[in-house]
Parts: sequence; C-alpha cells; structure tokens
Amino acid sequence: MCGIVGGVTNNDITALLLEGLNCLEYRGYDSSGLIVLSKNNSFDRVRSVGKVKNLEDSLKAREQKISGNIGIAHTRWATHGEPTINNAHPHISMNSVSLVHNGIIENYIELKNNQITQGYEFTSETDTEVIAHAIDFAMKSCNTLISSVQLAIKSFSGSYGLGIISSKYPDQIIATRKGSPLVIGIGNNGNYIASDQMALFSITKEFIFLEEGDVAEIKIDKITIYDLNGNLVDRPIKTSKLKKGQIGLGNYSHYMQKEIFEQPQAIRDTLESRITNNSVLISSFGHKAKENFIKIKQVQIIACGTSYHAGLIAKYWLEDIAKISCNVEVASEYRYRRPIILNGTLFITLSQSGETADTIEALKAAKIINSDICSLCITNSAESSLTRISDLTFLTHAGPEIGVASTKAFTTQLVSLALLVCSIGKLKKTISKKQEKGIVDGLKRLPGLVNEALLQEAQIKKLANRLKDTNSALFLGRGTMHAIAMEGALKLKEVSYIHAEAYPAGELKHGPIALIDKNMPVIAIAPNDELLEKLKSNLQEVKSRGSQMIVFEDENSKIQEMQAMEVIPVTSNLGPITAPIIFTIPLQLLSYHVALFKGTDVDKPRNLAKSVTVE
Ligand code: G6P
Repeated sequence: MCGIVGGVTNNDITALLLEGLNCLEYRGYDSSGLIVLSKNNSFDRVRSVGKVKNLEDSLKAREQKISGNIGIAHTRWATHGEPTINNAHPHISMNSVSLVHNGIIENYIELKNNQITQGYEFTSETDTEVIAHAIDFAMKSCNTLISSVQLAIKSFSGSYGLGIISSKYPDQIIATRKGSPLVIGIGNNGNYIASDQMALFSITKEFIFLEEGDVAEIKIDKITIYDLNGNLVDRPIKTSKLKKGQIGLGNYSHYMQKEIFEQPQAIRDTLESRITNNSVLISSFGHKAKENFIKIKQVQIIACGTSYHAGLIAKYWLEDIAKISCNVEVASEYRYRRPIILNGTLFITLSQSGETADTIEALKAAKIINSDICSLCITNSAESSLTRISDLTFLTHAGPEIGVASTKAFTTQLVSLALLVCSIGKLKKTISKKQEKGIVDGLKRLPGLVNEALLQEAQIKKLANRLKDTNSALFLGRGTMHAIAMEGALKLKEVSYIHAEAYPAGELKHGPIALIDKNMPVIAIAPNDELLEKLKSNLQEVKSRGSQMIVFEDENSKIQEMQAMEVIPVTSNLGPITAPIIFTIPLQLLSYHVALFKGTDVDKPRNLAKSVTVE
C-alpha cells in the first residue's frame, strides 16, 4: 500500500529518493517523507502531508539543503492515524534508528504499552513507531544492526516491508519483508531497496526479490541475506525485462488515458506465443498445467475490485462453454469464512499486482482447508507474492499499469481467462476443435475491435459532459454484461466520485426501479445475444418511468431510440467472449471523461491505492 525506496551510494541520495517516491506515488499519497544520514552521522528528515510534490516544495524551501549517501523514503496510504506530519514516515527512535514501513503491525497496542513502561515516548498515532522502538531496544543486547532487527521482528504479528537505517551503523540499510513486497536493486555506485522495481529503473535493471521473512544487510559493496530461520541464503539476481519507456506518460495526459489506449497492444502481447495453429497452448499456464487441469472437477475464483469483475465473467464462460462449475467470491470475505473446498478444485486468484493482501491470504487459507487444490494465479506482475505461493502462474502481459483505476489489466485478464476456458474445455473434451477455432479467431480480432471501439471517444466525451453534474447513475446489463455494468459503475465511482450502482436488468423491478426518475441517468449495455429481447423489455420499464438513458449497443441490436435516450452503436456481431471485452471500452472512456470534466485527480483518486497490501 505504501511505497518505500532507499539506498546506500557513493553520491548524494536525495534526488534519487525523490524520483523513486514519484514512481511509487500510485501506492499511496496521503503524506510522504525522507531521511538521510548527513555527514556527521545525524538524521536529517523532511516530511509533508499530501502528494510527493509537497515534499519537494518543503525540500526546496529549506535553507540548509539535505544531503547524504544513505537514506530511506516513504509515501503513505494511511491505515493507523490520520495523514499528518507526525504520522508520516520515516519514524525515528532515540536518534538511533529510523525506518519506513509498508504493512500493519497488528499487536502494536500491546507493544506500545510495553515500550511506554520501558521509557519510550511516542510522537505518532501509527502502528509503525513501535517497530523503531523495538529495534532500538534490541540494539542494547545485540552487537549488529541486522541482529537487532532479527530479534525485534520476532515480536511483531502482522505484515511488513521495512527499510531501516541507524546513526550507529552509518554504512548500511537493513531491509526485511513479510507479507509486503520489497526488492533490492543492484547498481554500479551502490545498492538500493524499493517496494516496486519501477522506483529504481533509472539506476538499475538487476534485482534481488526478497522471500517472505528474509532480512538483508545492504552495504555499498556487499549484500548479505538471511532467511526467516536466520540461515545465510543466496537469492538469485534477476534482470528485469521492463523498458523505461513503458513507464512514462508519452503524449497522453494521464496514465488512465494511456492505459485505455494501450489495450490493443496489451491484448496482442497477452496472446503472443499462447496460440499456435488456431489452438491454445495449454502449457502457457505452466508446464504442469495439463496434468493438473485434467484432474479438476470445479473452479473457485478469488479476487478483489476490478479483478473480481473479471472473475464474474469467467464464471459464465467456464460454465457455459467449458461446462465446469465455477464459483467466484471477493477475497476479503472468503478468507474469513470456513468454505467447503472439494477435492479437484482449481483455485484461481486474479490480481493485477499479485500483491493484494486479501487475495494472498485467501489462497493461503484455502491451502490450509484443502491441500489438494491446484492453485493458478493470473497476474500482471511476474515476481509478485502471489506467483511465489501458486502452483501455476499465467502472466497477463499488459505492461506496467500505473493509473489507480484498472483498465488494461482488466481486459487482459479477460483474454487470459478466455485462453483458460479453451484449455480446460479441450482437456475435458467439452469444446470441439471448431468451437476453439471460433474463440481463437475472436481473440485475434480483439485488438482491431478495441481500436474501433476507441473511435467512439468524441461522442462519449459529449455524453460525459452531460453526466458530470449527476449525483448518481445506474448501470444495467444481463448475463456477462451485468459484470461489465458493475465494472462501469466501479470506474465511475473511483475516478469521478459519482455514486453509481450496477444491476442485472431483470432484477430492477424488485426494488431499484423505485429510484428511477429524470434525475437518475441509466446506462445500459445491449449486445445482440439471446437475452436481447428481455433486455429491451427491461429498458422499456425504465424509460416509461422518465429516466434519461444511454444505451451502448451492438449495431444489430437495433434499440429504438426515444426521447431523452441516446443509443450508441459500439460494435457488431460479437460473440460471448469478445462482447464483454469490447463493451468495457466505452465505459472506461465515459468515466475518464466525466472525471476530466469534474477535475478530479484521475490517476490518483482520493482515498484509493493501486495495490492494497493491507487488509
Ligand atoms: C485496488 C485497486 C483496484 C484493483 C484492486 C485489486 O483496490 O484500486 O483498481 O482492482 O485493488 O487489485 P489487484 O492488483 O489484486 O488486481
């Protein structure tokens, strides 16, 4: 959730810390701060509330410039304690230890009460400050910084990614992680840490990914890593294949806009090398996919947010096309109930980041309930925590997604799930060669179809102008389009702060129709499928109650335009797999343009974070 960056170098580290924070702002932006060890080995810290820009301004405003060769920095997404200067990281204990933290220390109240009796004073309301004091206390009985950290972390329950420096050990940073991501970057002039490799791309492409429970001592010329049992370990150095250009804004105004328009390429990349001769390569899901898929009797999908919506669509596909039973649930609920998990379950986690805490914990909980499950993670992040605890991994090749509201990750998840449907269907002999070819043809046409749907932007912009002043909106769809309606409503809420709800069109008459009047715009999705006539009747029910209506239709759906109703043909002749993907595009554009008219911070909407690594 929060972002961490740090390093020990030959040069002044300050500019690099700021650059890293700017890259990490998507993880949280309530407040930020940085600290360096200055020449006389004393801490020099600056913190500020709000975005990293405010921290930059505070640094510029200082008479004495900050400078040092070793430092850590943080951008925060508040969990414990409001976004104030005192709650901002880095935190300091006794002028001896300073640290930045991503995660939650669940037993912090108990630790805090104990530390107060030991004489520690608290300056913040955070759970993090206890970590600093615990390490300072451990330093009294340990003769290295790393052993102090190893001792202190034994007392924490919860999750952490930590970057720690000490005025008594001015040549090193200690990094450790449990439940929160942390990477080490290896550079020419020093070594670095970050919660996301992206923060270090300007200095290095070489990374070490810390395992759960690892503690690392990072010096300018040496990195030593111990595992959670205190054994010295050798973690491999991996070279990142991401290109720097994939991260900049280019000619776009916002990442959300860039990522919407990158979807044709993202889909192409996700399909690449996964299809030959009109047939899906089952081994794309891992070399053990075949032997595992053949045994499965049902599918359970777990995800959060937008990824959950992709799961809802996959349920229709898996049951309709591959004829295998499928359940879908949000991770935050699933992880805390005692679900029945039958033998032969393919347990799929869907996650753009691969770091969503609830999704990770739901998988761990499922493995405890039934160790027989085969776990498959579909993610956009190759080295994420989810990939490490899953039996099989399938990477969506969407490229880095920076905009907090997910767009290209969603459509590439759907593409990945369509490939899965084909793979399972083939193995179970529930789909024929002809059917598979039909699906594959549709998938190959997708980049072109998305491009066509993107051409509607000018018209959608006009609609957005009309919607910008509404307080509430209702999204309607049937079948998979109900999930697309949910995704459309979520996007509008996230980026334009307009209350929006999605309903299966046939369910409207059981309650929500009471809300319909001229002030409640209704946005409906009308593909040309077997439910079209039923949807048309539902739309009549709404229209006759005076609502203003926007309908995104398949040209062949031929929805009759009426007064206060706009029908926008998006596409024509789509099948059950391609249709939900294509109808997503106008809804993404609609929320993006409403947000622009409203002047919200599109890429960093209030209160949200890209990667939710806390409960
Ligand atoms: C956050 C993001 C959403 C995202 C959800 C799940 O809430 O703001 O855009 O859909 O997390 O993230 P994941 O990385 O697991 O797909």
